[in-house]
Amino acid sequence: MLIDSYDRVVDYLRVSVTERCNFRCQYCMPEKPFSWVPKENLLTFEELFEFMKVAIDEGVKKIRITGGEPLLREDLDAFIKMIYDYAPSIDLAMTTNAFLLKGTAQRLKDAGLKRINVSIDTLKPEVALAIAGKDVLKNVLEGVDEALRVGLKVKVNMVPMKGMNADEIVDVLEYSKARGMSIRFIEYMENAHAKADISGMKSSELLEILGKKYNFSDDGFDGASPSHYYTMEDGYKFGIIEPYGDDFCKQCNRIRLTAEGHLIPCLYFDEAMSIAESIKRGDIKGAALVLKEVVKNKPEKNRWGGDDAEISSRAFYETGG
Ligand code: 5AD
Ligand code: SF4
Repeated sequence: MLIDSYDRVVDYLRVSVTERCNFRCQYCMPEKPFSWVPKENLLTFEELFEFMKVAIDEGVKKIRITGGEPLLREDLDAFIKMIYDYAPSIDLAMTTNAFLLKGTAQRLKDAGLKRINVSIDTLKPEVALAIAGKDVLKNVLEGVDEALRVGLKVKVNMVPMKGMNADEIVDVLEYSKARGMSIRFIEYMENAHAKADISGMKSSELLEILGKKYNFSDDGFDGASPSHYYTMEDGYKFGIIEPYGDDFCKQCNRIRLTAEGHLIPCLYFDEAMSIAESIKRGDIKGAALVLKEVVKNKPEKNRWGGDDAEISSRAFYETGG
C-alpha cells in the first residue's frame, strides 16, 4: 500500500497520455502553448503501461486516462485493453472533451473503459465557441449521447464563469440529470496559463443560484472524492469541487503521471520526479522507488486558498486537471 506523510492512502493514478488538445479552453490553454513537448520525448504506451503495472502492484486501484485530450493519441483503445487485461478490477476511467467520442465510444467500452468525465460548460453553440476557441458543441453533445448509448457511465464537469456561462448552471444541471449523468461544478482554479480576465465563481455563489431553484441537503464529502456533494429533493446528487476550501486536500488519494514520465505529487505545485529513465532501462525496482518517493513528497495541501494564496504555475493541460 502507498501511504503519504500525512497518512493518506494513495490508490489513484491519473495518467496523461498527451498534453496536446484540439480545444483551447480559456481556463486551461487559451493560446497554443509556446512549444509542445517533442513527440520523441513521450513515453510509448508500453512504457507507460510498465509503470502502471508497478503502481497497480503497489496498491493503485483506480486509474484515469487524461490529457490534453487523450483521444488525440492513436490506438488509445489498445492501451486501455492492456490495462484492463492486467487488472480487470481496476476502476478504469477517462477524462475527455468528448469531441472525438462519436465513433470511438464503443471501442473504448469494449476495451474495458468503465467511466468517462466530460466537460459541458454550456449548451449554447456560441458560448462553446467562445470558451473552447472552436465551434465544438454539436460534436461534444453527440459524443456524450453515443457514450451513454454504448453503456459508459458519464459524469459532467462544468466550470462556471461570470459573464460567460454563469446563467446556464441550472440548464446544464437539468441537461445532465435528464440523461442520468451526475454533474460537478468546478471552481475555476487560477493558473498562469489561463486567460487573464476570467472571473470564476465560488461555491457560495453557485449554491445561492441553485438554492433559488431547488431544495437540497448538504451531504459533505464522500470518501476520497474531491467533491462536496448535495442531494436534491428528488434524490439527484450534484457536486461542487472547491480547491480553495480547507477540506479539499484532506482526503487526497492521487498522484499524476505525465506523457513524458514525470510523476507529480500535487496538481498545484510544479515539483515532479521522472520515471522515464528507470522504465526505459527496464529497472522496475528503480521505478517503484521513485513512486514511493513521490508519494512521500505529497504536500499537505495546495495554496489556492488561505493566507499564503498564490496562482499556480502548473499547466493543467499537462496533467489533465
Ligand atoms: N479550473 C477549473 N477546472 C479546470 N479544468 C481545466 N482547467 C481548469 C481550471 N483552470 C477542468 C475542466 C475539465 C477538466 C479536464 O479539468 O473542467 O473538465
Ligand atoms: Fe483541452 Fe481540456 Fe484544456 Fe479544454 S480543459 S483545452 S479540452 S485539455
